[in-house]
Amino acid sequence: MHMQIHHFRNLCLAILATTQVVCVSAQKPKTIAQKVDSVLRLMTLEEKIGQLNQYSGDWSHTGPITKDGDKQAQIKRGQLGSMLNIVGVEHTRTLQELAMQSRLKIPLLFGQDVIHGLKTTFPIPLAEAASWDIPAIERSARIAAKEAAASGIHWTFAPMVDISRDPRWGRVMEGAGEDPFLGSVIAKARVKGFQGNGLGRLDAVMACAKHFAAYGAAVGGRDYNSVDMSERMLHEVYLPPFKAALDAGVATFMNSFNDLNGVPATGNRYLQRTLLKGQWKFNGFLVSDWGSVGEMIAHGFVQDNREAAKAAISAGSDMDMESRSYLHNMADLVKQQQVPIALVDDAVRRILTKKFEMGLFDDPFRFSNPQREQAVWNDLAHKAAALDMARKSIVLLKNEQQVLPIQASVKKIALIGPFMKAVRDNLGFWSYEWPDDSSTIVTQYAGIVNRLPKDAIVHYAKGCNINDADSSGFAVAIAAAKDADIVVMSMGEARDMSGEAKSRSGIQLPGVQEALIKAVHATGKPVVLLINAGRPLIFNWAADNVPAIVYTWWLGSQAGNAIGDVLFGAYNPSGKLPMTFPRSEGQIPIYYSHYNTGRPAKDENNLFYVSAYTDLPNSPKYPFGFGLSYTEFKYAPMQLSDTVLKGKETLTVKVQISNQGKYDGEEVVQLYLRDVTASVVRPVKELKGFQKILLKAGETKEVIFQITTDDLRFYNEALQHIWEPGEFHVMVGTSSAQVETRKIIWQQ
Ligand code: BGC
Repeated sequence: MHMQIHHFRNLCLAILATTQVVCVSAQKPKTIAQKVDSVLRLMTLEEKIGQLNQYSGDWSHTGPITKDGDKQAQIKRGQLGSMLNIVGVEHTRTLQELAMQSRLKIPLLFGQDVIHGLKTTFPIPLAEAASWDIPAIERSARIAAKEAAASGIHWTFAPMVDISRDPRWGRVMEGAGEDPFLGSVIAKARVKGFQGNGLGRLDAVMACAKHFAAYGAAVGGRDYNSVDMSERMLHEVYLPPFKAALDAGVATFMNSFNDLNGVPATGNRYLQRTLLKGQWKFNGFLVSDWGSVGEMIAHGFVQDNREAAKAAISAGSDMDMESRSYLHNMADLVKQQQVPIALVDDAVRRILTKKFEMGLFDDPFRFSNPQREQAVWNDLAHKAAALDMARKSIVLLKNEQQVLPIQASVKKIALIGPFMKAVRDNLGFWSYEWPDDSSTIVTQYAGIVNRLPKDAIVHYAKGCNINDADSSGFAVAIAAAKDADIVVMSMGEARDMSGEAKSRSGIQLPGVQEALIKAVHATGKPVVLLINAGRPLIFNWAADNVPAIVYTWWLGSQAGNAIGDVLFGAYNPSGKLPMTFPRSEGQIPIYYSHYNTGRPAKDENNLFYVSAYTDLPNSPKYPFGFGLSYTEFKYAPMQLSDTVLKGKETLTVKVQISNQGKYDGEEVVQLYLRDVTASVVRPVKELKGFQKILLKAGETKEVIFQITTDDLRFYNEALQHIWEPGEFHVMVGTSSAQVETRKIIWQQ
């Protein structure tokens, strides 16, 4: 039985009964702010500090709960405001019951990294970004939120909105890639998806925009490393997705491990107080990253945890995740007048406000209903959505001689590679293991075989492991290929090779995989290569020699079905790269929206004293926005409403796109702008719009973009966000490297 508890009122009564504290008002306070104030007035300093303290439970799929008696005792003493890594209605209920034994019965908040699904695993966020399908991305977050909220979770530490231009950094898998425009649109969609129709509903969880800020620009792509960047770069590239998340109503922010220009983000007053809580008027709360308050000692920014606590709260960090610096030092800091109580009160208010908004004071167990948990976890619509998202996330990089789609009449096929029969490697980093994984995750082998005619002959060979030097399986793989009409090889990174603390200095295919591809290719049989990865990899030999390449990333529970659908043409691939793919690690950081420099390399055959490498072209292997289809899209010349515009006028760009191939297909039409001359130099191209359209074979559609001066804005030398009149280039096309360019003049 699930009873509605009018907990807030009970709280006042309990206080009246057990202490001499008089409850502020006999009538029910009207607004959440008033309710928060009345709770705050009842709290001791220790209880206030307890609300700022967050611990982790001990995650394991057999018992994700804390068995730590000390933590349990602290909950009962009101010394804990929130926990992470506690999943499931049973476990969250058990701990919430302890919180209900505390003096003020303030409910715990349960947070969790629900990054791309909980029970149903969706593609990794970078893969989803490759779909450029915003409604699908929002729906993916919506379903993750439903599953999380049904499991007792109130708060997801997502979306990760860090821009990154360095594929060595393992956490690129968790974001939306390199571009601030695409990243902002996706940040908004994810926040809307997680928070649904608003906090307080039983299917909504609080979202968390992280990691504030600039974490993705770690020097050398090494996780947790320092970040050194200009204010212009920070404002133009790294902050916009955070602002977009804020505008979408994100409930919380998380700060980051890195220092930014010498000041750790956790102790960074400019980022958190001046900008986020000041200029941006963020009224939710800000949690530190795991232990990042205490890590300011190692940074060399503070001497000890006491100084760390002072620096963090002064800078605006409200909740201390796992460093215990607040718990052990804040009371004394307040008593010694080192930290004004107003700062503590403000942080507590922000946290209590969210607990009220989530309805937890009315019923602390409202997210702990076992029937709902079962029903939501078994919702078949979630599987269908995961399949849809997985198909849309796949990027077709190469398809010579129309090797793909594989004809349904195929007689003999060889399925080779360490990912063919892999189960959990389909899920990628930040995914959860469940006891029924082997029956719910569709392997690539199963997905492909299900699409084959009954009488087809299938040869399977693992060929090699993901990451070692053993080539003893090559012979069986070669024999399998020799006796097949077509070969599909599934290669790439294991699921723990990209992710947090998973930076790599070399991003080639691991182990002996390339050697196996060469050996199988040498049989002369047509090879389709699937690449599983959490980041852009470098696979130049395969890119130049293998006729068909499909970038699958890590696609989640439905990986096998999605891959089967794409290989056999039941779904025509439509993904476009959200990050530039380099030819060599030496080009990193590499991104399409670079500056022109004073000596641009216009001609790759003439590199005389220009900005170029002597041993490598500047161009990437695959550009941002690139991705093929089984059909052929033809762009007619764009039509502009005008070529000379003034002030508030709107430029309308129209372009007709025709599907001239045999298959129905989706195309992502991309719009870029360049400000040719300005008071500070501007990128050669910046994405300013895109539309994903479906065209039936033979169909033509017109796509319309509207541009105003808001799209021309940039940060000038004084960091004002302005636009300047002059010449602009308008570019429309199928990728950042394949566009039609027209010049316009925009006057004051
Ligand atoms: C990560 C965060 C994550 C937190 C809690 C940290 O190490 O940087 O993104 O939310 O752990 O798991």
